Amino acid sequence: MSEKLVIAIDGPAGAGKSTIARRLARRLGFLYIDTGAMYRAVAWWALQRETDFSDMHRLGQLAKEARIELLDGGSRVRLNGEDITDRIRTQQMSEAASKVSAVPAVRRALVEKQRAMGAAQSVVMEGRDIGTVVFPNARIKIFLDASAETRAGRRLKDLDATGAASTLDQVVREIRERDERDSSRATAPLRQAPDAEYLDTSRMTIEQVEEAILKIYRDRTSNGKELPK
Ligand code: DC
Repeated sequence: MSEKLVIAIDGPAGAGKSTIARRLARRLGFLYIDTGAMYRAVAWWALQRETDFSDMHRLGQLAKEARIELLDGGSRVRLNGEDITDRIRTQQMSEAASKVSAVPAVRRALVEKQRAMGAAQSVVMEGRDIGTVVFPNARIKIFLDASAETRAGRRLKDLDATGAASTLDQVVREIRERDERDSSRATAPLRQAPDAEYLDTSRMTIEQVEEAILKIYRDRTSNGKELPK
């Protein structure tokens, strides 16, 4: 059986992780896995069920029972057979996902699903804790970053596309609050793994980021095979 490779991409909201991870996966023929979408799916279900967000046990149960499918190259999300792609991209869902993601039982359940996905085939997986917790032995780890203003500008564009009205100031504030929560939680906070490559994408085009990561990929592997550690 050939070796499965994991490209782990972590970083704060709006750093460009999804765009770049999707492109890399397509280019390398890997599966793209957006772990943020999995936290969003659990948050959506919890809201549907009117779950009390302080009921950690219940949230953990929901995460365990959730049947989450990432379809069409990772662009569509299905929860328990229902397509919820468009419903999980609102500002309200970003905040709700950030809250449920701080619950240890939720993380345990989703990390288990993520590891199973990565064991089955080569993946480009993006999130907050992929290089630190989900796949600490991943050969290729990238920490993508950008200034809060750049990231808020990108988020604003995404929100505009969905028709939601927001100002740049508002989005900068929200993104800072969410980063603070994601970085300061006790379980698996957003953090750069010591062996991850740091890339600030503020002044880079998507093509430049893609090339930079492909170079790291080539440097850390040999013809797509892992080098001995
Ligand atoms: O990447 P995103 O904005 O869709 O993620 C939504 C929230 O989920 C984010 O605020 C933090 C959380 N998250 C996490 O804690 N760990 C991950 N691996 C991915 C996302």
